[in-house]
Parts: sequence; C-alpha cells; structure tokens
Amino acid sequence: FGLVVVLAKSLLILYCRNGCLCVPTIQLSPSLTQLTWPAPPTSMIAANQTTSPYTTSYDLQNPRTSYSVGDIITVVITARDGLKNSKTYGGDFFQAKLFNTKLKASVYGEVTDHHNGTYTATFKLLWEGQAKVSIRLIHSSEAVLLRHRERDPDKVFFVGVFRGVDHQEKVVCNAQRSERLLKASQCCCEYKHPISGELWFCHRPSYLPCSAWVDHGMGGYQACVWMCVDACVCKGMSVKCVPGLDTPSPAGFYLHDTWTSLMCHAQSFPTANQIASCLKDKQVLMMGDSTLRQWFEYLLKTVPTLKKLNLYTSAQSGPLEAVDTCNNIRLVWRAHGLPIRTFMVPRADLHYIASEVDALAGGQHSVVVFTIWAHFTTFPLYTYLKRLAGIRRAIQALLQRAPQTLVLIKSANTGYKDIYGSDWLSWQLDCALRVMFRELPVVIIDVWQMTSCHYSPDNIHPSHEVIKNEVDLFLSFVCPI
Ligand SMILES: *[C@@H]1O[C@H](CO)[C@@H](O)[C@H](O)[C@H]1NC(C)=O
Ligand SMILES: *[C@@H]1O[C@H](CO)[C@@H](O)[C@H](O)[C@H]1NC(C)=O
Repeated sequence: FGLVVVLAKSLLILYCRNGCLCVPTIQLSPSLTQLTWPAPPTSMIAANQTTSPYTTSYDLQNPRTSYSVGDIITVVITARDGLKNSKTYGGDFFQAKLFNTKLKASVYGEVTDHHNGTYTATFKLLWEGQAKVSIRLIHSSEAVLLRHRERDPDKVFFVGVFRGVDHQEKVVCNAQRSERLLKASQCCCEYKHPISGELWFCHRPSYLPCSAWVDHGMGGYQACVWMCVDACVCKGMSVKCVPGLDTPSPAGFYLHDTWTSLMCHAQSFPTANQIASCLKDKQVLMMGDSTLRQWFEYLLKTVPTLKKLNLYTSAQSGPLEAVDTCNNIRLVWRAHGLPIRTFMVPRADLHYIASEVDALAGGQHSVVVFTIWAHFTTFPLYTYLKRLAGIRRAIQALLQRAPQTLVLIKSANTGYKDIYGSDWLSWQLDCALRVMFRELPVVIIDVWQMTSCHYSPDNIHPSHEVIKNEVDLFLSFVCPI
C-alpha cells in the first residue's frame, strides 16, 4: 500500500494592505448555515504563517499489513504553515482521492475538518490491487476568496449592445448595481424579468432608450486588487435509479475508466443504438453552461441518427437543437440565461431557467436537466441563492402539474483553476444547490466526485472519458432497470 504525497501548490490570494478592506461577515439564511466556512482567527497574518503544501503532511491512521475490499481507511492530515508550525485552526480546503493509475481506478475521499489544524480523509477500498492516496491543498484557510466573492461582484463584467435606426451603443452590464455601474453618471437601465423577477442592469446609453437593448455578451475580467506584491495577507446498487435518492459518499468509483455508481443500479450505454432506444420518445430540455453543452455534443457525436438543426444561433450560448425522427427524440440545449460569459448574442435568446420551466407542460416524455454554477462564482452567494430559489419554485410547480416529468440537476464539476473561479467557490455553490433541492423528487447527478477523482488533468471542461460516464449516469435515470 503506497502513500504518495501530492500536495499541490496552494493558490494563495494576496491583498494589498491598502488595496481593499476585509468584510468579515456575510449574511446567510438559517438553512444555509452549513455553508459557513471557518475563517482564520486573526485578520492580518504573514504569508509564511499560512498553510503550506510543503510542510503539511499526512499519515495513514492505524496502518495494517493488509486490507480487504470494502474496508474504510482513514488518513490524518496535519496542516502546517510555511515555518513548519502546526496550524491550530481549520478552514483549509483539501481534495482527496484514492487511485490506481494502471487500473484507471479512483474514488473520492471525504475530508473532515476538526477545526484544530488536523483533518481526516476517509476512503472506501473498492477494487483489488494497489491504491495510492492523493491529498491536494486547493486553498489555504487564509485565502480570501469568500470576501472577494461577496464584496467584488463585477470582477467579471458584461456588455450590452443597444440599437437604434442607424446608431448603436455599447455599455457595461451586470447582475448587480456594482461600483463600476454606479460610478457611471447615468446609472442604470434596470431589467426585471416579469415572471422570475430576476434583475439585470446596464449602464444607461447616452442616446438610446433602455428598451433598445438587443445583444448581450461577455465584457471582460477586471481583478485590479489581486495578487499584489506586498507581503501582507488579508485573511480572510441494488436500488433503482429514480429521483429523490441521497448521494452517498463515495457516490461511486472508477475502474478501467468506467464509473460504478454506489447510488443506484446504473448502466453503461456503449452503443449508439442503446442510447437512442433509451432516449426514444423523449424531449430533453437541457439548460446550463458549456459543461452541460458537452453532454449535448457527446450525444450528437455518439448517436449518428441524432441530427443537429441549424438554427443560426450562437454555438456558444445556443439554443441548439437536435432531432432523431426515427426514434422520436428531441434534444434542446440552451444557456441558463444571464449572467453568461459569451460572445455577443441576441439577448432574447437568453432565457432564465425558471421561465423556460414555467412554459413547459412536462409529462412522461419530458426530461429536464440543468446545471448552473460556473458563471456565478464571481458574484456574492446571495445572487446565486436567489436564482436557485426561483428555479426551485418553477421545478416544484412543474412536478406538481406533471409529476412524471424527470428533472435532473448536474452538480458542479471540479477543474476551475483561476481567480475568477476556483474549486472552493464551486464547492460552496454546489453545497447551496444540494441544500436547495434536497426535499424535491429530482435527481442530482454528482459529477463533482466524478471529476475530482479522475486521473485526467484539472479542466473545467472534463475529458471525454468523464463526460461519457456522466452521460451514462444521466441515461441510467432516463431509462432505469
Ligand atoms: C515571515 O514573514 C514575515 C513577514 O513578511 C517576516 O517579517 C518574517 O521574517 C518571516 N519569518 C521567517 C522566519 O522567515
Ligand atoms: C483535533 O481534533 C480531533 C477530533 O476532535 C482529535 O482527535 C485530535 O486529537 C485533535 N488534534 C489536536 C492536535 O488537537
């Protein structure tokens, strides 16, 4: 049994002493107290006092000479700072997996924070042969992503194009009246969706009225206060695959690159015919971001009878549509609405998930699948919670009027590796999503575990092997046996 140290370099975000202020509290609704993340006890600490991947170590608890399949092993992680002192508080974000490269086998490990500088990772042994432990420090507890997310909502900004008869204007838009918008002398055009109540703001154009807004697109990234050179740190299987199942931990594992679900009796769909007969007579409405568009693309590539229609829409934000008239399948993918980082597209093509769902009759031939998180990592948690609440209301109403509708939610996946998105931010949103939909008879396709323990390099767009396994799990719920 080999124990391997794979502590990735911590992504430490430094703040200038005078570049920003820490905002130490965030408001969470009572049901979301599970989202609170322990913060370091002091507000300013030196970089060499933050958790270091070079001095942090881990050991197998009570090692034995042999193990059997089904055993649980525990690994104790001792966090230390850059000066080799043991940490006395928690809040570091670790990701743990057990893997065997030769067998293309891996499983997710659950990490528990003991809030005293130690953590335990537990793994279930699920295949015969060797297994190695990998623990990665994704963020030290001193990393200030939480504060940054809450107080700086326009680090990603958007552009709106307004059109008149022979004149057009481009202005900055965003999901909140952010500083960047408020600074503008004529703030703002406000767009409130009549049904979902979602708000969107654009800087008021100089000549054209607010109603002249036609196109939406990605503006840019602005992270002016990040990564300063100053050394100061502002801290900051026998079950049928049906809706309503809890996600166990681990939710499954890879062996020979195939995911075995521990949640329910999932199947593999190796041929186009098997996929097509599973999807026969289904109308699948997919709403989300590019990580769900990968499912659409995978299905299109794998099932030759599925033909894509040319709707002359954006390849990036859709809507996209494919049909298989022999098997009576209709597949639609569209972006989840604003905010979405995309090339310039007609804003009328961007529909909120809740309003799409409200316009759907549903029923036994209807499958709704959505994912929403990756374009929300730059906004305060509240923005995301509000959006989820609207979607939840719409899904609840759909399941009430048409209980046979199958609703699936693709969880967040790992692989974000920059300051606009990080696995820690994704994780927080993903926890919120799971809490929000816990009581509803919907399916959560847990791709977090599937991506975090796979051997392929971190990528916000998971590799083909992972997508195949994600889609197989999705199909297992569409036609359960
Ligand atoms: C740790 O960092 C602080 C602040 O930069 C510095 O003053 C101190 O000398 C460092 N300690 C060691 C042992 O390197
Ligand atoms: C930390 O807490 C855990 C769980 O309560 C305990 O088992 C462990 O001994 C503690 N370690 C230290 C260094 O205090």
